[in-house]
Amino acid sequence: MKAVVLVGGEGTRLRPITETMPKPLVPLVDRPSLDHVLDHLRRHGVHEVVLSSSYHEEPFRSFIRARRGDPEITWITEEMPLGTGGAIANALDALASEEAFLALNGDILTDLDITAMRERHAATGATATIALTRVEDARPFGLVATDADGRVLEFREKPRDPIPGDVNAGTYLLDPDAVRGWSTGEPVSIEREIFPSLIADGRPVFGFVSDAYWKDLGTPDQYLQAHVDLLDGRVRGQPAYPAPFLAAGASVAEGASVASHVVVGPGAAIEAGAEVSDSVLLEGARVGERSRVRRSILGPSSIVSAGAIVEDSVLGAGAVLEPDAVVRDGRIGPGQRVSSA
Ligand code: GDD
Ligand code: MG
Repeated sequence: MKAVVLVGGEGTRLRPITETMPKPLVPLVDRPSLDHVLDHLRRHGVHEVVLSSSYHEEPFRSFIRARRGDPEITWITEEMPLGTGGAIANALDALASEEAFLALNGDILTDLDITAMRERHAATGATATIALTRVEDARPFGLVATDADGRVLEFREKPRDPIPGDVNAGTYLLDPDAVRGWSTGEPVSIEREIFPSLIADGRPVFGFVSDAYWKDLGTPDQYLQAHVDLLDGRVRGQPAYPAPFLAAGASVAEGASVASHVVVGPGAAIEAGAEVSDSVLLEGARVGERSRVRRSILGPSSIVSAGAIVEDSVLGAGAVLEPDAVVRDGRIGPGQRVSSA
């Protein structure tokens, strides 16, 4: 089976991390989140993947080169963002598939049973099958109403009210026919245009409900929660990570306190007397003596100097907190310096 993975979004809500690194390349524990997506596809027998992006291939080049074996990757750069539906339709030629193919949002960590979903797609004779997941507040998602047989009655992207329900989990099985003709060169949304149009035309669109692990990685809170879940072994098919997780070349000084839900990236360092909990230190980040870091993401080569406090914050690459600086609920841009009050 073949798949198209959408990696074109701006990653706005993960700024400032995504100001210096495309969202799919932001690491999740031990490797870029896109590696997790592609490994999941490989486990379900996907051998060919089209990566579709409105961003340039350049930052992805070394990633693509470093991946060996399955699945084989073809890259498409859109001249302008084509939207989720336009990007999928635009990938049809590269996919060269007569049969149903997978289309995925590239910013999701899931252990969805794609094999079972594929069986269901074949059994129902659907034109499109949409993986669904249950949430308490559907506002950030696409709310999907189905009948007793699982047939989709309505697809409502980003509903206005905070209602619970089954939402689009961002993994689809599509017959090529479902999107053919939508490659117009103009942006097209699969959520707002293509699915509603298929439903209105009476084409068979089905939902696939499961209790799979599922997390959109788009915000700092969700990104940190995905780490907690990976470290706690809640995602099937993943290695049993030691917690806290120390990457190659990471160092934690004696006398530092590092709680279990912490990832210390390659070459990152935590010095004596520092307290770190529920946080991710990306490559080369440094946490100085007696400082405190909670529920935060420290970007590559960022520095939290001695005695500084960081809580519920995101530091961009190379950001520097000077000694005794305090940042709460903050977003500190790449290279920005913060001094103590
Ligand atoms: N190639 C390409 N071109 N990819 C795009 C484009 C584009 O113009 N626009 C968005 N993408 C990619 C993003 O990179 C992401 O992987 C995916 O399409 C979805 O875009 P998001 O911007 O992350 O959408 P969302 O999270 O607000 O909502 C989507 O995901 C939810 C589940 O997480 C929708 O599909 C919702 O219906 C769904 O519930
Ligand atoms: Mg998203």
